[in-house]
Amino acid sequence: MNVADFGDRYRERVWENHFAEDFERDVAAGLRATNKSIPSKYLYDALGSALFEAIVLLPEYDLPRRENALLERHASRIVDRSNGRLRLLELGSGSSQKTRTLIGAAIERHESVEYTAIDISLEAVRDAAAQLLDRYPQVEVRALAGDYFQVLGEVAPQPATLALFLGSNLGNYPGERGVALLRALRGALAPSDALLLGVDVRKDRESMERAYNDSIGVTAAFSKNVLARVNRDLGAEIDLQNFNHLARFDEGTGSVESYLVADRAAAYSLGGGRGAANFAAGERIHIESSHKFTREELRELAAACGFVERAYLPDGEAAFALALWERADDADRRAPASAHFE
Ligand SMILES: C[S@@+](CC[C@H](N)C(=O)[O-])C[C@H]1O[C@@H](n2cnc3c(N)ncnc32)[C@H](O)[C@@H]1O
Repeated sequence: MNVADFGDRYRERVWENHFAEDFERDVAAGLRATNKSIPSKYLYDALGSALFEAIVLLPEYDLPRRENALLERHASRIVDRSNGRLRLLELGSGSSQKTRTLIGAAIERHESVEYTAIDISLEAVRDAAAQLLDRYPQVEVRALAGDYFQVLGEVAPQPATLALFLGSNLGNYPGERGVALLRALRGALAPSDALLLGVDVRKDRESMERAYNDSIGVTAAFSKNVLARVNRDLGAEIDLQNFNHLARFDEGTGSVESYLVADRAAAYSLGGGRGAANFAAGERIHIESSHKFTREELRELAAACGFVERAYLPDGEAAFALALWERADDADRRAPASAHFE
């Protein structure tokens, strides 16, 4: 099954990227800095994406199951937004597995649906598109392969759009970066368009940390794969055995921060004349922030980015929530703002 089999039900655009140069520059700078880091977007090469798909099956990582249950419960209300055809516009669509619930509900409500998927991984959007087009004859897919910030600036607003940012992906964009991303997304929406966020909620430390420290080490493999990728793609010589995965909730940032920690002091060549990265024993490389939201924080974020909360839908244990926002302007005249769906 290939996207080419679906004629004009499938369109794609691929943004020129400088991925190889960016990766080289970010890794060389990040591993030689005093506070070492590698941006989390580099976690998702082919192996990283496959490992992430395994993570969502782990009993400890219950976020996807909670999110799926909420989507199934509320999908028909969420997509009931217009009389005409709905456009679903998803950021970081990945395998688009969860999106199926909303696509199914949108077809029931609107008969057909346009699904625009933005993902940095062209393989991921193509694979997901082929499966969706095969399964749903009523769907047209537009695949936009590039970085969010590249792509969103060029997505024209189209009335009756429901944007999706699921999987607590927003949590990987803490602080100003999240604000910038949501403002860029707002620019691609028309008045009264909506945004559905799936967010992991702040709870007790043990539950939050358990999700990132599974007992069979899949999350550790996902983390360490970023160093394996540095070795593979840059010809670096980092000894993976010297690093351990660590994920801790940080009260200060409100996020579970994931690191790779060097066991002993070492210096590793970064390959290709890029010099060496020196590690002290116990030194950390920051690789991901997974922010845990409170409802108040979300409301403040919505206001800062030009949205207003229309519904807040926590699961039974208040461990995960869907937040439905509307693009502000005329929406803020229609108070009261928020509702709980039954
Ligand atoms: C954690 S997965 C989530 C997939 C799916 N939405 C879910 O909830 O299961 C994150 C997805 O976002 C994509 N991604 C990460 N950073 C990105 C960026 N800066 N621009 C575009 N896509 C990005 C990755 O390729 C990956 O498919």
